[in-house]
Amino acid sequence: MSTITTATLLKMKQDGQKFTAITAYDATFAKLFDDEGAHVLLIGDSLGMVLQGGSDTLAVTMDEMTYHTRCVARGTTQALVVTDMPFMSYATPEQTYQNAARLMAAGARMVKVEGGDWLCDTIRHLTRNGVPVCGHLGLTPQSVHVFGGFKVQGRDEFQAQEIYRQALCLQDAGIQLLVLECVPTALAERITKALRIPVIGIGAGPTTDGQILVMHDAFGITSGYVPKFTKNFLAETGDMRAAVRLYVQQVSEGSFPGPEHCFS
Ligand code: KIV
Repeated sequence: MSTITTATLLKMKQDGQKFTAITAYDATFAKLFDDEGAHVLLIGDSLGMVLQGGSDTLAVTMDEMTYHTRCVARGTTQALVVTDMPFMSYATPEQTYQNAARLMAAGARMVKVEGGDWLCDTIRHLTRNGVPVCGHLGLTPQSVHVFGGFKVQGRDEFQAQEIYRQALCLQDAGIQLLVLECVPTALAERITKALRIPVIGIGAGPTTDGQILVMHDAFGITSGYVPKFTKNFLAETGDMRAAVRLYVQQVSEGSFPGPEHCFS
């Protein structure tokens, strides 16, 4: 059972304390991340790429997300366990609720959905029924084929304004956490300041309330293309536990991400 809750993260935002999130897919790594002080463990549908070898996240199923959630929850005592709802598992409010209930029963304490104001009814339906929701804006990987590739979002003024507006809509609908992925630092800063709820960045600069990395990126073991916003903490430490400790420390003191990890 997580002892870090949405209330803990909200208080950290209010106190100006940065928090650390990392993806996890099994009990052993969940325990290691939990022991070393990660505040949020995300069972990301990135598992479709880093575990299953896919070129995107679209083929990941509810059964797979449920299985990995159960594994991670068994290894976690403190961190908030958040699970991604996979592609097409949240097309209607009722379908979303059925699927979210499965993830919560498997040990998730919050579910994450990718997208903007078209999800507001769904978010209201979930929160009214006891399911906390994390939003995800910017580069939302389930829409990679709409974007025409894994590209930075919000670089032009129109797009930036649209992402800002969507963030406020999602907050009004009831999300309690927001992931901002691959957006310019200035936009992430503007959104983080405007929202009451905590914002977690990945490729969104140093000013968000928290940071998240895919665990394989944090260990420098991702094959193929390595995104600019990642950092190999294992290279500096030579030890997995020390690598996670360094990641948590650098996020907390604000030295990660550095200028070389950011977009303008
Ligand atoms: O699926 C995932 O791992 C994610 C993070 C990169 C935020 O959504």
